[in-house]
Amino acid sequence: MRTILAGNWKMHTDRADAVALAQGVARGERAAGVEVIVAPPFPYLEAVVAACEGSGVVVAAQNCHAEPQGAYTGEVSVPMLKDLGVGACIVGHSERRQYFNETDAAVAAKLEALHGAGLQPIYCCGEGQAERETGRHFDVVGAQLKEALGKLDRAVVRGLVVAYEPVWAIGTGLNATAEQAQEMHAFIRKELGRLIGDSAQDVPILYGGSCKPSNAEDLFQGPDVNGGLIGGASLEAGSFLQLIAIAARVKA
Ligand code: PGA
Repeated sequence: MRTILAGNWKMHTDRADAVALAQGVARGERAAGVEVIVAPPFPYLEAVVAACEGSGVVVAAQNCHAEPQGAYTGEVSVPMLKDLGVGACIVGHSERRQYFNETDAAVAAKLEALHGAGLQPIYCCGEGQAERETGRHFDVVGAQLKEALGKLDRAVVRGLVVAYEPVWAIGTGLNATAEQAQEMHAFIRKELGRLIGDSAQDVPILYGGSCKPSNAEDLFQGPDVNGGLIGGASLEAGSFLQLIAIAARVKA
């Protein structure tokens, strides 16, 4: 099974910070066996690709448009990302669903476009606080998976990296417990199994939501937790490198 640590920089950094952070990660001491991905803001993609060249660090976008080109003011297509040397893309992050009305149908189209172009899609799902408090978290995540992935070609689903990110844990300092993460990851794998059978065993499922060096050791223990999608703790090379080292150790 792959182990993956992905850093989602969101709308943070300026050009100089982005390059310095990328260099810190690319040149830092990294344990073998962990795939490392960094996702800077769009304007810094090219500079970060250059900073990561030859290091094995894959650069991801945080969003994309499903159409290859057209009259979509303000959007960025998958071929444009590929042209820059971008190798992966986060899709369906809860902040995009919440603030930009991204629907499961739009998410599905983006996943298809990325797969077609050979970029690694990182598909995000996760329940909100009220849904967790009322015990509906499995229903909600199950519905997200069904809506976004249910109609896709099996090959697209087989090629995904999934990120489970409970919305109540994102940027709040309130991470899911290791038990909550593992049980949801196992559920996600079971649901993926309905779509792609045994191949679901090979789909990496990352945990995201206030994951940091102090709790990662615990969170990464779960057999169905294959790494992390990291926000805040990825904005400093030192803590991101620590997370990579923890993942390498726990998953060895
Ligand atoms: P966080 O963000 O680690 O800052 O909680 C995770 C994410 O939104 O990907």
